[in-house]
Amino acid sequence: MLRILKGNDYGDMSRIAANVIFAQITLKPDSVLGLATGSTPIGAYEQLIKYYEEGNLDFSHVTSVNLDEYRGLDDTSDQSYRYFMNKYLFDHVNINLEKTNVPDGKESDAARECLRYDNLIENLGGIDLQLLGLGNNGHIGFNEPGQVFEKGTHCVDLAESTIEANSRFFNSIDEVPTQAYTMGIGNIMSADKILIVVSGEGKADIVKEAFFGPITPQVPASILQLHKDVTLVGDEAALSKI
Ligand code: F6R
Repeated sequence: MLRILKGNDYGDMSRIAANVIFAQITLKPDSVLGLATGSTPIGAYEQLIKYYEEGNLDFSHVTSVNLDEYRGLDDTSDQSYRYFMNKYLFDHVNINLEKTNVPDGKESDAARECLRYDNLIENLGGIDLQLLGLGNNGHIGFNEPGQVFEKGTHCVDLAESTIEANSRFFNSIDEVPTQAYTMGIGNIMSADKILIVVSGEGKADIVKEAFFGPITPQVPASILQLHKDVTLVGDEAALSKI
């Protein structure tokens, strides 16, 4: 089932998305949250920090598992997704850092890291609420357009368009890692609930394609049409074509 919630602008849509996470933690304080990086969720994270600072939100029993991490970057690198999560959320709330999980970009043995991450998610009993952003090419996590939907955690070669899009965070495009570890489509689809956030007119076409076009691995997010509980939160611009 797809629920669509529209905010007037980025701030408004960020509050709406934060409220879904707020409700999840309130109803189940020991929730397992699947988290995402990228620019879209930053406003929601800021709002969650506010709720925490106001004394209304307690992360002490929450466990988190992040979607993905660049391969080859160490977690102290300021471009790593671990660094991002600490900076935009974990450092500002009372989450137990030992209960926060991000794939280990330093692990060079890809098969081993992917197996470890799949086992970790399974041992946690799965994900209660998975937060996602949507790539311009329809990727979720780093599941890039391809021939198949990959089920488990895997190591991917990033699409040229993703490397270009992400180069805005690096000094030059040559510094963008070319591979990443990512949860697979199976990991994501096994989450109880999915919350996907989109902002800006640049996402309008892909939102339409992903949620109202054919289900195909060429648009990885299109598989979300088969999930039982998806909340799509966007601003007016991103939702303007649906
Ligand atoms: C981030 C991730 C990516 C982003 C996507 C959208 O952990 O897995 O799939 O969600 O690239 O990024 P933004 O929000 O920057 O447009």
